[in-house]
Amino acid sequence: MKELETMLELKNVTKVLGNKLILRNISLSLGEGETLAVVGPNGAGKSTFFKCTVGLLQPSGGEIILDGEIIKKKSVAVKKKIGFLGHESFLYSNLTPFENLKFYGKLYKVSDLEHKSMNLLKEVGLYLFRDVPIRSFSRGMIQRLAIARVLLAEPNILMLDEPHTGLDQEAVALLNKIIKEKQKNGKSILIISHDFEQVHTLADRVAILKKGVIVDTIQLDGKMSLNEMKEWYDKVVMGG
Ligand SMILES: Nc1ncnc2c1ncn2[C@@H]1O[C@H](COP(=O)(O)OP(=O)(O)OP(=O)(O)O)[C@@H](O)[C@H]1O
Ligand SMILES: [Mg+2]
Repeated sequence: MKELETMLELKNVTKVLGNKLILRNISLSLGEGETLAVVGPNGAGKSTFFKCTVGLLQPSGGEIILDGEIIKKKSVAVKKKIGFLGHESFLYSNLTPFENLKFYGKLYKVSDLEHKSMNLLKEVGLYLFRDVPIRSFSRGMIQRLAIARVLLAEPNILMLDEPHTGLDQEAVALLNKIIKEKQKNGKSILIISHDFEQVHTLADRVAILKKGVIVDTIQLDGKMSLNEMKEWYDKVVMGG
């Protein structure tokens, strides 16, 4: 196996919320051009892990290193390098898709903004709705726009927390096409998901987070079947 350049590294990350230890000594790295999926039961700490990694939450202990730089909450460097899509869309309901993209584009100092925004709106299938305030949008339409927002700044790392949730078949295919394009261009991707089929299609490596601990990781590299992956998960999660 080829050694990958490390893009993102977590070293002994812990997170306490309230008086509960949600993340316990998480050490994990994401290589350049690698797609890593994090799976695990509800409440395991996946979204907490995600929020710490993208700088929305400050870890209680440990370090998160991005491209050689320690991530702090609200780090500007993080915002430029990591495109993240979480449970919240970070969109403004009284703005139209085009206005939302322009707003974020200005914030991230995106060049050629209007042109890129229009192209992205076409890519995610919202071009015809570009001037309609998004408050009337369906969940899937919002998710499509959130995907366009993430792509606008052309990040080197994509972090996606359950990105397929709420999408119809067509939008799932669209998102996977976008993810595969990013993979081809050597971007690093971290996906949190409950959808084993999507994980199996997209990931090079899978890690299981259970009760705040990474209990096992496995290399897929297209060599393991979906069933084998599910069996591995069941064994690790149920067994102990
Ligand atoms: N602000 C908070 N204060 C206290 N506990 C919290 C807080 N936010 C989350 N938790 C707890 O942290 C644990 C992990 O939650 P988290 O959302 O990270 O899980 P998850 O793995 O993403 O679950 P799911 O698969 O349902 O999305 C849960 O037990 C939750 O109750
Ligand atoms: Mg979650």
